[in-house]
Amino acid sequence: MKKIVFIAGSLRKGSYNTQLMEMAAKKLSSAFICSFIDYSDIPLLNQDKEFPAPDSVARIRDEIRSADALWIGSPEYNHSYSAVLKNLIDWLSRPVVPGDYSTAAGRGRLVALSSVAGSSGGSFSLSKLRELLEMLSCTIIEEQTLVALGSRFGSEELVLTAEEEKSLSAECDALANALA
Ligand SMILES: Cc1cc2nc3c(=O)[nH]c(=O)nc-3n(C[C@H](O)[C@H](O)[C@H](O)COP(=O)(O)O)c2cc1C
Repeated sequence: MKKIVFIAGSLRKGSYNTQLMEMAAKKLSSAFICSFIDYSDIPLLNQDKEFPAPDSVARIRDEIRSADALWIGSPEYNHSYSAVLKNLIDWLSRPVVPGDYSTAAGRGRLVALSSVAGSSGGSFSLSKLRELLEMLSCTIIEEQTLVALGSRFGSEELVLTAEEEKSLSAECDALANALA
């Protein structure tokens, strides 16, 4: 079975972005192994401490390498993606062997994107994330799911509208087709 690794751009317990990806994982789990990574222990990237990479980074790189596709659920912070997500992607963009970028776990990957955010629904965040991932030669699924929280902000459980549910299903189908 092929594997999809889900990455939340929010470290928050109860994150809406994690909740949305859990819904996607539920839809995809009959055909794919779905797992979520916890990268809350990786340090800020420091080129003085890259080679060898810290154990926490090596572990995350192994998990990312084991995936056939990645799904990134990004919140929007000030019209961009979060700093923790950028730090993770920076680590994944770097080689394990100095100078040999074919050893970088995060380059050239198949990626699906979603965002739950305030009023914008994360459209600014995802357009910037697309630009970043394209720079890393990733193939990005065209379909994406945007959820503008509106009056749902503050509720514990994320409940999707019919339109958002449709968008998520279409994105899951597109990713499944790309992995077929
Ligand atoms: C620092 C910060 C900046 C934010 N900026 C935006 C923004 O520019 N646009 C937006 O729609 N929501 C913005 N938000 C709201 C978050 O995107 C929203 O709370 C989202 O649900 C957080 O994701 P999470 O539930 O997965 O933690 C911001 C939140 C924070 C903490």
